[in-house]
Amino acid sequence: MQRLTQNLNLDWLYYTYDIRSVSTSGPDPLPPVRVSLPHTNVELPYHNFSEKEFAFVSWYCKTLKIPASLRGRRLFLDFDGVMTAATLYVNGHAAGSEHRGGFTPFSYEITALVHFGEDNLIEVRVDSSERSDIPPFGGMVDFLTFGGIYREVHLRAVAPVYICNLFAKPGNALSPQKRLDVDVRLANTTDRAQTHNLTIALCRMSGEVLHTQRRSVALPAQAETTVTLALESLSNIELWDIDQPTLYQVRATLDQGDALSTRIGFRQAEFRDDGVFYLNGRPLKLRGLNRHQTFPYIGAAAPARLQRKDAEILKYDLACNIVRTSHYPQSPHFLDRCDELGLLVLEEIPGWQHIGDRAWQDLSVRDVEAMIVRDRNHPSIILWGVRINESPDHHDFYVRTNALARQLDPTRPTGGIRCIWNSELLEDVYTMNDFGYDLKSPEAARYLNTEFCGHMFPTKSFDSEERVIQHALRHARTHNLIGGLKSAGGIGWCAFDYNTHAGFGSGDRICYHGVMDIFRQPKIAAHFYASQISPAQRLVLEPATYWKMGDRNGDSPEHLVVFSNVERIEAYVGSEYRATALPDCAQYPHLEHPPFIFSGLGSLWGSHWKSLQLIGYIGDRAVIEHLVADDGIPARLRLMADDIELLADGADMTRLSLSITDAHGNFLPYASQPVTVTIQGPAQLVGDNPFPMPAGRGALYLRTTRRAGRVVVTASTPRLATQQLTITIRSLTKPRAAHPARIPSRELISVPV
Ligand code: GAL
Repeated sequence: MQRLTQNLNLDWLYYTYDIRSVSTSGPDPLPPVRVSLPHTNVELPYHNFSEKEFAFVSWYCKTLKIPASLRGRRLFLDFDGVMTAATLYVNGHAAGSEHRGGFTPFSYEITALVHFGEDNLIEVRVDSSERSDIPPFGGMVDFLTFGGIYREVHLRAVAPVYICNLFAKPGNALSPQKRLDVDVRLANTTDRAQTHNLTIALCRMSGEVLHTQRRSVALPAQAETTVTLALESLSNIELWDIDQPTLYQVRATLDQGDALSTRIGFRQAEFRDDGVFYLNGRPLKLRGLNRHQTFPYIGAAAPARLQRKDAEILKYDLACNIVRTSHYPQSPHFLDRCDELGLLVLEEIPGWQHIGDRAWQDLSVRDVEAMIVRDRNHPSIILWGVRINESPDHHDFYVRTNALARQLDPTRPTGGIRCIWNSELLEDVYTMNDFGYDLKSPEAARYLNTEFCGHMFPTKSFDSEERVIQHALRHARTHNLIGGLKSAGGIGWCAFDYNTHAGFGSGDRICYHGVMDIFRQPKIAAHFYASQISPAQRLVLEPATYWKMGDRNGDSPEHLVVFSNVERIEAYVGSEYRATALPDCAQYPHLEHPPFIFSGLGSLWGSHWKSLQLIGYIGDRAVIEHLVADDGIPARLRLMADDIELLADGADMTRLSLSITDAHGNFLPYASQPVTVTIQGPAQLVGDNPFPMPAGRGALYLRTTRRAGRVVVTASTPRLATQQLTITIRSLTKPRAAHPARIPSRELISVPV
């Protein structure tokens, strides 16, 4: 009997109030709206709103026809994530107790509650308030969780004997003869003991079967059993590495038809006592950024496409080799993309400085389990964070989290992110937020700096040039310092500006700590990260300047910092050669690509302002050029979409980036003139419109409806040429094989039900 896994993301009726406690004497409540998942309980401006605006109870209701052919199977509703607490009702009956916690998946069995061959009423009560009984709440929290059924929901129908989960553990990764041990958790929900044949297959992602192993397994009645099958002497297996992240598929099949598969990679990741992190036996200095999973306007309710895009930005635009999922387990789509790209991950449980009572701690321990069971097959994950971020010591609690993590996943070390020196080390790796401008030396042999910069130097894209340059240099300097320490590496705070509570950030509900803004548009610090990429992959040449006379205190930009991965840079002012610079290896000996610092460009004070031209060389070859116009006048409005094709599922989205630039495409940070965006065709605009363009840049998003067609997007602003682009919305019934919503590791049948 084959399992059915069906995506239930379509056609929910969404009520913005608690439908079970509406008073009959009050005004008529608002009618429900039809929505697709992921869904945010309220759309908000990108800043200047209150955290109370999403803290309410809402309901999501749906009619679900359960085919008579599913009689005899066990039915589950699997929720990937609902913020913050959820209770499921099927045909008016509670399917279980309230699920507490918004960051980890949960399932309700609904077999006994459904009517086969008929329509069934599915209702979910969602409490999105910041409940102190649920991690991360109870104290102050420097981020917002937002609300709604913000991840996907699936119906799963399995035979009475079925596979619960798989844990595939690649071994001997560095030997030509590798092995794979697969723990298969099986459930026999019948009243009689049974024996079945279980087959494990290791396949290429193309589906080609490489190795199999079969075994008879005895399954006691009404019990779950874990069996381990080993595939040995596996030859010609490619490693998963950051530059070549080869993935394989592992499939477990029971002779009665149930099957489950997962993606894996063969790699060896070790934090060794010499202080170095090794990937596949090679030392690798970890260089990364922290990421919050939230987006402007939609909170955390970002569809697969946006989640995947963030991983691409971190890997390619910011040249990171690691990301920390601060401060909670993040979207499976994000992690899938990290696997595909070769971006390493430190994943951690939800929390922020506060530890609650025993019941709260029990939920946190439950989060450890849910996170690890969900994610332990991802080759990208190299470390589990099993402390509450920056919490004080709590011996008993952290003995529990560490023991559970080690039991559920003996293949990975534990870390636990702390900010108190000399705090108790129960973990395998000492993971420390060291915000000091002069970093301390590591306290333990296996050491990773998990946060620096951040609140020490908040920086907005529209801050003065000196500040944005300092911001960039602080990141450069810290990575350089870390490079010289006996430390596995450093993960800066943070990739993107993020929405936060009143007690943090700049009061407008944004923490401006990102090297990119909340729209994922670069600040100058992003150019430092970008410049660390290998020139074989991409050439980078970005001056840290707005190249304007009066934007620095009493100075002209004659001391020019340039972030680049070339070997030598020549600078021309107007068309006149002024100076050559080499990477500043003296100040930044531990960076792969140190910044270039020009002096001798000459003061331009009082002279006619001229353009800047930089030419980057590798050997004798000029390989890249960067121009900054002399006049500072907006020359172009730019409108860019990250995707040209979307899926008509009512939730798919792409970013529409807006910027006002000079003639050569450089941002003009003070070109804050509003831009109006309009669309024609079957889609919705999400975002503040007209958009105010702080720092001359920003973004709106385009969300699909359930209709296919072509959408023309137009952006206009006074005095600049109007821009237009077209996006094709593809029908759900004609999906492209490569559409990211269809991740090979997930067996989803994406048809409307
Ligand atoms: C850390 C914290 C982060 C963020 C950061 C700002 O203490 O872990 O979540 O608040 O400070 O610098």
